[in-house]
Amino acid sequence: MPKERVLARAPSNIAIVKYMGKTDSTLNLPENPSLSMTLAKLSTYVEIHAGKSGTQDRLVAEAPPGVPGEVPTLSPAGIEKFLAHFARIRTRAPNLLREFEMEAFDSGVGEIRTTNTFPHAAGIASSASSFAALTLAGVAFLARDRSLFRAKFASTPGLRRRLAALAREGSGSSIRSFEGPFVAWEGSEAFSVEATLPALSDLVVVVASREKKVSSREAHLRVRTSSAWSGRPARAHTRYAELRTALVAGDFPTFARIAEEDANDMHQLFETAEPAFSYRTKETRQVMEFLATVGAPYAATLDAGPNVHVIVPQSAELLWKRRIAEEFPQYPVLVDRQGTGAELMAPLGGEG
Ligand code: PMV
Repeated sequence: MPKERVLARAPSNIAIVKYMGKTDSTLNLPENPSLSMTLAKLSTYVEIHAGKSGTQDRLVAEAPPGVPGEVPTLSPAGIEKFLAHFARIRTRAPNLLREFEMEAFDSGVGEIRTTNTFPHAAGIASSASSFAALTLAGVAFLARDRSLFRAKFASTPGLRRRLAALAREGSGSSIRSFEGPFVAWEGSEAFSVEATLPALSDLVVVVASREKKVSSREAHLRVRTSSAWSGRPARAHTRYAELRTALVAGDFPTFARIAEEDANDMHQLFETAEPAFSYRTKETRQVMEFLATVGAPYAATLDAGPNVHVIVPQSAELLWKRRIAEEFPQYPVLVDRQGTGAELMAPLGGEG
């Protein structure tokens, strides 16, 4: 019987062509294909071990020993969504493992602990990284032979993709956190795509750290009330195709144009929905205007929040960091780089 704790880490990702609107809200199937850059450090750790008592899986608000990051403050609804996804993993793991010639095992009640390496106050969405990490740790926890699972996870791209598709059912955008650096999501599947761009960094200018007023679940529904919605899937499809071509060609100017256009498109949908809502602030606009004056290549995008992601070649990371800090000393800047997706960490004691 497996005894050791399992520990998984999954990074966040930043979409260049956004996932906004669903064709199926139970399975989280998207209206349009999306494409993101996987990050390296901004991530979630999930540790699971078999509880000694109790009859129900539970989330413990503590950092696992030796694991970096902050324990997130989850709302009761957030905790319920997290545990509901673990329940989904329990029902799906036996068939999923069997597909890859492994067996599931009832390891008993799961005690789950999680941390984020980005500060809660930074207002970075953690659903992609947390549902990806929970899915990987959850299936590993339920595998009879965890060493075999570890080996197959490292060597079988098909297994990684099946786990990603399962994570999607908990949070859509988490499907893109299993590979990298560039991941496309079409329908029920996500996969890495070819790119010849120089290695990139993402500088997140944290202009505000308020909690989201409108959840992403609500945003996916409400955008459909905007008069600009009818053309949105077609616009996103066109940008997605252009972006795939630009990545292969190493065409950073086109990458940058699409990033900005699609972020604007998504935020305009929010701002013209009924009732309208908005994440962009005066500070968001000031940062965007400043970036255009620096005179070095960059791509700017926004998630469903006011903070500005400034994507630049790694070779220009220091220059951009310095220029942004000089102009906006009041805003923290989180610096991350492109990464390769979710990973299982070495076992933390016990067999494994
Ligand atoms: O995964 P969800 O349902 O939280 O959707 C988030 C979607 C955006 O982050 C706003 C855009 C994207 O493609 O990541």
